[in-house]
Amino acid sequence: MAFEHLQDSLQSLANDCLLRRRTILQDDYDGVIKVNDKHYLNFSSNDYLGHRQHQDILQSYVEGLSRHGAGAGASPLVTGYSQCHQALEAHLATSLKREAVILFSSGFAANQAICQALLNDGDTIISDKLMHASFIDAAIHSPATLLRFKHNDMHHAQQQLAKATGHRLCVSEGVFSMDGDQGELDALQTLSAQHNAWLMLDDAHGFGVLGETGMGSVESANLNQDQCQIVMGTFGKAVGTGGAFVAGSQILIDYLVNTAKHYIYSTAFSAAQAKATLTSIELIQSGGARHKLLDNIQYFKTLAKAHDLPLLASDSAIQPYVIGDPAKALNASECLKGLGLWVNAIRSPTVPQGTDRLRITLSALHQYKDIDALVDGLIMMRAKIG
Ligand SMILES: Cc1ncc(COP(=O)(O)O)c(C=O)c1O
Repeated sequence: MAFEHLQDSLQSLANDCLLRRRTILQDDYDGVIKVNDKHYLNFSSNDYLGHRQHQDILQSYVEGLSRHGAGAGASPLVTGYSQCHQALEAHLATSLKREAVILFSSGFAANQAICQALLNDGDTIISDKLMHASFIDAAIHSPATLLRFKHNDMHHAQQQLAKATGHRLCVSEGVFSMDGDQGELDALQTLSAQHNAWLMLDDAHGFGVLGETGMGSVESANLNQDQCQIVMGTFGKAVGTGGAFVAGSQILIDYLVNTAKHYIYSTAFSAAQAKATLTSIELIQSGGARHKLLDNIQYFKTLAKAHDLPLLASDSAIQPYVIGDPAKALNASECLKGLGLWVNAIRSPTVPQGTDRLRITLSALHQYKDIDALVDGLIMMRAKIG
């Protein structure tokens, strides 16, 4: 039978408690999910603002669907690029104070495209060790040399930058996806300028949340286009839709339009999705749920501190509880499920070996009583699992 040889790999993952399984959601509304006929408070979604089910965004989606159809029908360079896509790009460029923007169907595709299109043999990518897998994978497969620096270690970043050759791309995240802490953007900007490197930020988890108007890490760190030449952000998290963007100079975006294979040879996301995404971003800019999210983060952190819960230092919606072993992390997650709390265990290789964890994510949808229940659950889980 075909692929029988793969069974051994699957079995070995299972033996190491590293096998992945998908969960079927029967229902998913207002921060509560239903799985196997049971309801759980969801503390594992990246829908930080509850925008996935916001009525204005859904309305905008529906209008887009009825006017423009379910799909884009073609890649952007053929007939898949509509005025909805163009309006979203223009709005983002203005809001981020960049000359231009290009949309991708996912952040994964955007990261791959950047590494493939912009760098050649002899060039160097200098990146934080904890960059998201979509970037690391792209960097490994790019013709450039990849030099990684220890997480947020600016001394090491400088050493790596000093070794770099050719065009240099220095990369960090606005908010780290698994640790929830923020990149050292000011220091990286200074180092990048000193070493003649472009600075790129993957702001998947900062966009929509950070900054005075929610435009993310470049807004909160006040980095202009000359200081941070490439901004990548995604719409699948705080924005609540899907897809991604890259913002930068007109020449950068024109070049990507002409050379990024993940853009040219892939069907565009739908015009309806672009329209709904723009509505979501406008809501974010008008304040909306961001304040409730920040309030929830503070509330959770205060309670967790009062109970000495061993969380990593994070001011973001991502609050990691490191357990350090995949079997124990799975047990911890199961224990919380028994209490009606859904918190996924994140294991290696998604996080470094020995740092397996519960990745708690907070949302503006949570009420204080939900967070009370979570903290009570974590205390009980700690007593049981150790
Ligand atoms: C930091 C980071 N970059 C990129 C991505 C990929 O984005 P997308 O889910 O749109 O492919 C993710 C999402 O999982 C992420 O967390």
